[in-house]
Amino acid sequence: MTVEQHCTILEVTHLSSGAVSITFESKGMAAQITHPGQFVHVKCGEDTLLRRPISICNWSAERDLIRMVFEDRGKGTHWLSQRSVGETLDVLGPLGHGFQMDPHGRYLLVGGGIGVPPMLGCAVHGGEAHTAILGFRSGNHAMLLEDFSKACTGVRLATDDGSLGHHGFVDALVRQELTDNPAYTAVLACGPKPMLRSVAKVASEFGIPCQVSMEERMGCGVGACLVCACKTADGHYRHACKDGPVFPAEEVDWNE
Ligand SMILES: Cc1cc2nc3c(=O)[nH]c(=O)nc-3n(C[C@H](O)[C@H](O)[C@H](O)COP(=O)(O)OP(=O)(O)OC[C@H]3O[C@@H](n4cnc5c(N)ncnc54)[C@H](O)[C@@H]3O)c2cc1C
Ligand code: FES
Repeated sequence: MTVEQHCTILEVTHLSSGAVSITFESKGMAAQITHPGQFVHVKCGEDTLLRRPISICNWSAERDLIRMVFEDRGKGTHWLSQRSVGETLDVLGPLGHGFQMDPHGRYLLVGGGIGVPPMLGCAVHGGEAHTAILGFRSGNHAMLLEDFSKACTGVRLATDDGSLGHHGFVDALVRQELTDNPAYTAVLACGPKPMLRSVAKVASEFGIPCQVSMEERMGCGVGACLVCACKTADGHYRHACKDGPVFPAEEVDWNE
């Protein structure tokens, strides 16, 4: 059940990449999380009417904690980046339909930029063995590498400018990994749409199922408005907030 809670902030870390990590006491929300890739909808100050959707990066039901990692992009996330330990956040969640993972599955996790944080939840909470392929603009923007190294059997990096790891986009590494080790249960990906399109194409060439998390603009976050409507391959519209944000790649209309 989705609930709105006032949650105390327990940790704020400004990561070297510039992103911000906030962990808060979840008031029971962590125990309601069913799948990695779900998100919380956070009220970002009195002047910001609409809540902002942020993926759940990691959680502990036992310790009642939720962690989110976000970039200071505009008014809402800037307000969020200025919060301190001990303050409260108005949080609605957990929301959405996340990544479907078999507890015994072996997953290739692919994250690009600010699409990287939700993939950590997949690495920690789903399946048995994972390889992560993470892409960033440059080495300075790389984040959560230690967390992924602990949770995955392998981590491969790509940067647009070649300053860390492979020089280029993640889809080249996905192709290489699937050529070397094709026995993955599925490819799971979050990041910009062009990246998701390329990754889905490679997975389909190898006949491996692929799920993608779509970052649409959102209003209500619970299926009550039409802000997040996205067209599917069969010409219908689905709500990214309620039916997604994670969809099987073959259901996405990549021409939209
Ligand atoms: C399901 C979901 C999960 C998300 N998870 C994360 C996360 O874990 N970490 C994180 O940093 N961000 C995440 N985002 C994106 C985040 O919600 C936006 O960055 C935020 O809403 C921007 O709000 P703002 O007020 O700071 O910026 P605004 O002033 O509203 O916008 C600033 C800039 O951000 C762009 N932007 C706004 N919303 C989105 C969006 N939904 N997708 C892409 N670009 C956007 C705008 O085009 C503009 O360039 C997620 C979005 C969705 C839909
Ligand atoms: S954001 Fe309102 S229906 Fe999805």
